[in-house]
Amino acid sequence: MITIVPASLKDTEILALLGRLTYSESHGHFINNKEDLFKYNNEAFSIEKTKKELQNSNNLYWIAYVDKLPVGYAKLVLNTNNIQVDSKKQCRLERIYVLQEFLGKKVGYELYTTVFNNSKELGFKQLWLTTYIKNENAIQFYKKLGFEIVGDYEFMVNGKAFENLVFSKKINS
Ligand SMILES: CC(C)(COP(=O)(O)OP(=O)(O)OC[C@H]1O[C@@H](n2cnc3c(N)ncnc32)[C@H](O)[C@@H]1OP(=O)(O)O)[C@@H](O)C(=O)NCCC(=O)NCCS
Repeated sequence: MITIVPASLKDTEILALLGRLTYSESHGHFINNKEDLFKYNNEAFSIEKTKKELQNSNNLYWIAYVDKLPVGYAKLVLNTNNIQVDSKKQCRLERIYVLQEFLGKKVGYELYTTVFNNSKELGFKQLWLTTYIKNENAIQFYKKLGFEIVGDYEFMVNGKAFENLVFSKKINS
């Protein structure tokens, strides 16, 4: 059974570890230099950074559990505007990641639904996100959910640029 639970400071270690594992599983093969990946993970998913992000009230996290095991998470960032998105009331689905072994079992859909419903309840009009141009799984997933490409964006990993697409979806209220 899939359960989606809001995350708080007590979940720091789970989020840091899930963040690191799911990023390596899904993006590790795109990064040729494994040292770059290791450095990125150390910085992006350190306990300290994860704690700080959880303490920022603009960040909302959820953890997905399958039979009580944490297998995925999502991070929603409130009030973060992208000029390529058509609204002043925007929020960003910054991360939605599921462990490889649990892909294709609707965990991503349950996380997304929670994020979307919360964005709506909070009065946002557009939900946007970015994804790597070669991340075909995520691109198919977002298209299926009704997101449209509205622009592009360069994502940096240790000084190296990776071309990303910006997707957005209107939130009807
Ligand atoms: C993107 C991601 C979150 C999707 O989660 P998931 O649990 O595998 O997807 P779900 O099982 O909930 O699928 C939901 C719908 O999307 C579709 N979908 C998911 N992955 C798909 C793929 N690779 N190709 C086509 N459709 C796909 C499913 O078929 C399903 O549609 P259906 O209800 O009609 O069957 C997951 O692939 C993931 O974590 N990837 C690695 C991390 C990542 O790249 N995150 C995004 C970073 S921007």
